[in-house]
Amino acid sequence: MRVRIEPSYFEMSNVAAKLIAAQLRRKPDSVLGLATGSTPLGIYRELARMHKDEGLDFAGVRTFNLDEYYGLAPDHPQSYRYFMDENLLRHVNIDPKNVHIPGGIVKDIEASCSEYEASIREAGGIDIQLLGIGRDGHIAFNEPGSSLGSRTRLKTLAQETISDNARFFKSLDEVPRFAITMGVGTILESRHIVLLASGVEKSDAVRLAVEGPVTSEITASVLQLHPKVTVFLDEAAAEKLKRRDYYKYVEAMRQKVGQAEV
Ligand code: F6R
Repeated sequence: MRVRIEPSYFEMSNVAAKLIAAQLRRKPDSVLGLATGSTPLGIYRELARMHKDEGLDFAGVRTFNLDEYYGLAPDHPQSYRYFMDENLLRHVNIDPKNVHIPGGIVKDIEASCSEYEASIREAGGIDIQLLGIGRDGHIAFNEPGSSLGSRTRLKTLAQETISDNARFFKSLDEVPRFAITMGVGTILESRHIVLLASGVEKSDAVRLAVEGPVTSEITASVLQLHPKVTVFLDEAAAEKLKRRDYYKYVEAMRQKVGQAEV
């Protein structure tokens, strides 16, 4: 696990966007796993800018989102489909047929989850998976106690997540209680996982995910078992890490041996 601590949210977002851009230049038909929420907004803004100013090409890119609220139609302003269109997809030259987001309104939940898994496999698996982290340590909507081998499925949201997400809705009652989410097992199959966290309110979850024991109580902690994970943090999110100085030292040493780029 590589931990990169950047001075601010802005810098963290730009460095992570550069990593994704490098991946797209290396492999124009890359498969990206995307997240919603506040954390990746800076990356999406920077990717859209790179597309506009530097011609970063999304024509061959395929995307799979982590999750969608169950019960929200794609045109609902709080749906993750709507979020992705607004914040990234309509700003770049991605082919709509290459965009995959779990359906929020489906007749057969199990069948649609299996189809989602199958389409990830058919695309050849995910090259880079972006993740945020919940205050309860969740990745995607794999709430505490989720099986570490779980696949895409319907998940009941934890109270903490419902109240955290209430900021996007008019009232607490409107926040969906369920989501369709990739499982922990699905996420772990990605070739490179990039987790981002910003702000002091994430610092406990970050500490437990990076330096705590591997446990389904903090589903992000399972990333410790993955061979290629990059954790991008701003200073506030890194505040409670025991080995914070060591991670910074490692990055300085990587510079010396020309290993600063991922
Ligand atoms: C979003 C997702 C969630 C968020 C997490 C953090 O697609 O899967 O796990 O990444 O809840 O959300 P923010 O970034 O809003 O703090």
